Amino acid sequence: MEQHTIRLHPIGKELKVNDATPLIDVLHEFGIEFPCGGKGTCGKCKVRLLDGEIEITETHQRKLEQLGLSSDWRLSCFSLCTNDITLEIEQYNHLILADETEFDFSPREGFGIAVDLGTTTMVAQLLDLSSAKVLAVETMLNPQLKFGADLISRIQACLDGHAPEMAHIIRSSIGTMIRLLLKKHNVALSKMVLVGNTVMQLIFSGCDVSPLSCYPFHTDNLGLKIFNPKELGWDFSMKEKVQFYPSVGSFVGSDILAGIAATGLHQKQDYTALIDLGTNGEIVVGNKNRIVCASTAAGPAFEGANISMGMRAVTGAISSLMLNHGKIEASVIGNTEPTGICGSALIDAIAILRKMDLIGIFGEINSGDQYIPVAGKVILTQRDINEFQLAKAAIAAGLAILAKNLTIDLAEIKDIYIAGAFGSYINIENVVETGMIELPASKIHKIGNTALIGAKMFLFSDMGITEKILANTRHISLEADPNFQDIYVDKLLFP
Ligand code: FES
Repeated sequence: MEQHTIRLHPIGKELKVNDATPLIDVLHEFGIEFPCGGKGTCGKCKVRLLDGEIEITETHQRKLEQLGLSSDWRLSCFSLCTNDITLEIEQYNHLILADETEFDFSPREGFGIAVDLGTTTMVAQLLDLSSAKVLAVETMLNPQLKFGADLISRIQACLDGHAPEMAHIIRSSIGTMIRLLLKKHNVALSKMVLVGNTVMQLIFSGCDVSPLSCYPFHTDNLGLKIFNPKELGWDFSMKEKVQFYPSVGSFVGSDILAGIAATGLHQKQDYTALIDLGTNGEIVVGNKNRIVCASTAAGPAFEGANISMGMRAVTGAISSLMLNHGKIEASVIGNTEPTGICGSALIDAIAILRKMDLIGIFGEINSGDQYIPVAGKVILTQRDINEFQLAKAAIAAGLAILAKNLTIDLAEIKDIYIAGAFGSYINIENVVETGMIELPASKIHKIGNTALIGAKMFLFSDMGITEKILANTRHISLEADPNFQDIYVDKLLFP
């Protein structure tokens, strides 16, 4: 019997199946859920068709329309595999933040693509350079997720000999995003800019990441990387070469460079801070004269890692918590029984439990129990609280050390911008309550995907803007500060 291949993104799995195999038969073991039993009403079995064809019946089409799904989605419960296909599995989806922010620009001719290449997620936008209008957006999970969620696992995978494959799959996935963008608007490209953290830039560019694997965790290979589309395996031509923007430091990449450009902190008289709470946590503080930046290990706890009932923002996750007349009320994604807690609600939980005096200043559970019930079966253990303290202290200590490097008081920072998908869902009052940012909530603002905003701004500029920012920016290693330990231990306490 004729066989076909199903490729599953982002886990990189390949399945060989017989012709006309129902997807429902083969996808359940990869985390696809079928809550409505295949009636086409819940939409939970949706997959995104990245490549190949899946025929759609009239009923299937109607169900997709009722669920408000666009033409690249399919319901697994209505689909048969009749040729080779590549699918993105929805259950692995993260919050991916695109952007429609307006910015100042000088019109140019042609069309450009801006890409934010994140450790976990990728976003590409196609722009008309004469108007800065976003014509189309594509988002995708980083296919390197199969090599581990964080940067350390990616670096290790490179050291284990997977670097060529990791470069190949990331180039090929971005190539797919470009193809999908150009399918929506068949235009001739003139410019393309990518931004991402240093490790992503080096892997994409086929460069050695091993200097980042051992002391002093430093690489000098931070500069702009340029490519012909053909050498990246992309089958389209472009007026200018593809540019992967320069990194600021060994663990502070061009996504933060783009963030600086997007906030305009390099042009302001007042001190401004930018905190990007992604898989990594990067912090920048500065003004038009001097900028300092650093990376922290704060990200994983906010993505649910190391938290006993931590999970990503998918069905069943508590997304936020409120204290109402002494009772904790939970919002759960999908309105189901809560099965875990995601990063934004973890901050709420800690802030609320502190207000209820159930957690002490050192993070201890005041009752002496080993856990506190939060909502339904979801609990926070003593260890979870301590993990949160480590993460929040990393941010608070990072801000304090950067301010110290600028010889300013923290209170002199006029505005703090919180970037990233996670940042856009957090409750700022609760952030302040936990002591993660020791400034009034009125100074803290959510700003969205600054990496993407900056990448789009770079489509309209030459390298001059970035050279100026880089010349004024110093990368600080927080751990190298002689007072780091004292400051960090102090910030572990709750206010
Ligand atoms: S199982 Fe509910 S839509 Fe497919």
